[in-house]
Amino acid sequence: MRLEGKVAIITGGASGIGYATVRKFVQEGARVVVADINLAAAQAVADEFTTSASAPVSAVQVDVSDFAAVEAAVAHAVAVFGKLDVIFNNAGIAGGKPLLDHDPAVDYAPMIRIDQDGVYYGILAAGRQFRDQGTGGVIISTSSIYGEQAAELSFTYSAAKAAVISFTRSAAYELAQFGVRAVAITPGRVGTPIINQFSDELKATFAAEQLRNKMTEPEEIANVVAFLASDEANVINGTVVSVDDGYSV
Ligand code: NAI
Repeated sequence: MRLEGKVAIITGGASGIGYATVRKFVQEGARVVVADINLAAAQAVADEFTTSASAPVSAVQVDVSDFAAVEAAVAHAVAVFGKLDVIFNNAGIAGGKPLLDHDPAVDYAPMIRIDQDGVYYGILAAGRQFRDQGTGGVIISTSSIYGEQAAELSFTYSAAKAAVISFTRSAAYELAQFGVRAVAITPGRVGTPIINQFSDELKATFAAEQLRNKMTEPEEIANVVAFLASDEANVINGTVVSVDDGYSV
């Protein structure tokens, strides 16, 4: 129970990596706010963990591109569970077009608002809460292998995911005085709805890009996130933890 007594917000917790992380956090003793734009799916996750004896998961609807909504999610965690110890800024969207086919209003701004601004808002809102509580805290944010390299159809996505890495370093630097750690993770190819929408042929290509020729399971990422959120990871700060099964060697 390495997260016993901790309270966490997981954005994008209704699906994929976020959902697997909710499961893992609850197993490790945490209480979790699932903050997702899809309220019905988030509520279904909360219901899944609710028994007559306990309700360790609470759902809240959040569009992470709306700062007021992210602040409200932090306030929700404090109202329901009394405090906040961890935020996992994980909500995101993927996809893209060749650069020269871009319509900036469609292919740039909306993705930046979610994948980049959404993480900034999470860091800012949670950081203020950690400062005010005086208890420290942990900020984990989902970047991507594409945050560190160029790839097809990823001009905007790569920019946003690179910003997540920069935010993490700067947040660690600025918030250390309040006992806060910040870590980014860079998944490679993870079998979630974001990826499962593609053809079997493309998925096989994705798997072959990882050294052991297998797609990563969301649970494998969740295991690492739980470790990073725990006190056992106390010296991992302001850095990127690669979780790509050798994609980037
Ligand atoms: P997913 O599509 O299974 O889950 C994303 C969740 O985010 C969904 O529940 C969705 O409703 C929520 N969401 C989307 N927009 C939102 C918004 N504006 N506000 C709040 N919630 C919102 O995707 P997956 O794969 O679990 O992705 C999670 C994170 O991992 C994303 O940031 C993605 O970019 C990143 N990632 C995923 C990889 C993969 O291979 N699946 C690889 C590298 C990074």
